[in-house]
Parts: sequence; C-alpha cells; structure tokens
Amino acid sequence: MQAKLAVLVSGNGSNLQAMIDAIAFGLLPAEIAIVISSRSDAYALERAARAGIPTAVVPRKAYADNEAYSEALLEVLAPYQPDLLLLAGFMSVLSDRFVNHYAGRIMNTHPALIPAFCGPGFYGARVHQAVLDYGAKVSGASIIFVETGVDTGPIILQEAVPVYDTDTADSLAERVLAVEHRLYVKAVRYYLAGRLHIRGRRVYITPGEGGEK
Ligand code: GRF
Repeated sequence: MQAKLAVLVSGNGSNLQAMIDAIAFGLLPAEIAIVISSRSDAYALERAARAGIPTAVVPRKAYADNEAYSEALLEVLAPYQPDLLLLAGFMSVLSDRFVNHYAGRIMNTHPALIPAFCGPGFYGARVHQAVLDYGAKVSGASIIFVETGVDTGPIILQEAVPVYDTDTADSLAERVLAVEHRLYVKAVRYYLAGRLHIRGRRVYITPGEGGEK
C-alpha cells in the first residue's frame, strides 16, 4: 500500500510540482491523495489538475481566524487519512490543535537557513530581501517538521547557497528554490523509508538499505 500524501498550497506550487515529478520518476513510493489550496487562484491547483490529482479550495479569507480555518482543513483532510502532510508554499498559519493532530507527520520548507530569517513575517520574497538587506553571504533552504510556532520545528535537512553582491530577491529566490525542490523530495523519501528519528530538537537520519545516503 503506497503512502498517501496531502499537500497544502497557496501559490505557484513549484514544490508540489517537484513531488509530482518525483513520484512520476519513481523516486517516491507515494501518491498525492489531495491538494488543498488556501487560495482559489493558486497556480498549484492547475498543476494538480494536470497530474489528475484531486483538489480542494478552502479559502483562508472565508474564516474568522486560524482556529476556525484549521478546523475546516481538518474536516476536508479527514476522509483522505493522509500518512504525511506537506506544506508547500502554504501561506496560512495552522492551529496548535491541527499541528498536534498530525504531530510528526507535517513537513514544511522554508527558503532560508533556520533559525535565521524565519518566523512571523518572514515568507516569500520578504525572506530573501531580509537576507540581502542584512548583507548575509550565504542563505539556503530548510526542510522541517512542523510544530506549534512558525518555523520552529526540528530541522530535517538544510543546504546553503551563496549570496552574490549582484543578487536581487528574485535571483536569490530562484537559487534557493532549486535547492528546496531537491531537498524536500529527499526529506519525504527519507521519511517514507522510516529513516527519520526525532529526538528532542534533533532529527537523526539512519542509513538506507545498503548504506544508501
Ligand atoms: C518557496 O520558496 C516556499 O518556501 C515559500 O514559497 C515559495 C514558493 O513555493 N513558502 P511554491 O513554488 O508555491 O511551492
């Protein structure tokens, strides 16, 4: 029985596309059971439809607060019984009840090297602009397990990229995004292979079959 993924999106969906492609290439022994978007205009919905994946829109703006929104998401997700939830460019904050319900089974990608340039207000292009404004020489991608709090969960994988003097937020975003796509697929592959073990704040990655990295 293949693992069932649920992917939560809000925008372009390039991380969703990375998962769709990885599954198509046989890299991930999983199926995407549902893609849920917080916005009806997310291009990610077109990517899902092209891949024949069921979609749902649960518009964040239709709900008074994160708690009510998270309850609506829980109801939509329940019938699919996902094994793993992937936040992929998802821009809404999930309630503690939601996160605790799926504890240990929600991942997210952040386009910076957590704990730098993360937390409330650090999303999308703002992250990269903050890196440039600070004069940082490296940035990168972080794949984490989601816990209560914004970008505070245990780090699964990280990889740095150089920041060039000539960079703009867009050029840096592009360089980081390419790493996110590769790292996120790797993190999901490790999870599905049972190779991720959380102890306290640290995520230990055990070797794969035959010592595969
Ligand atoms: C990514 O950098 C992601 O980390 C951030 O939004 C960007 C676009 O994600 N949250 P996607 O193309 O919608 O997957």
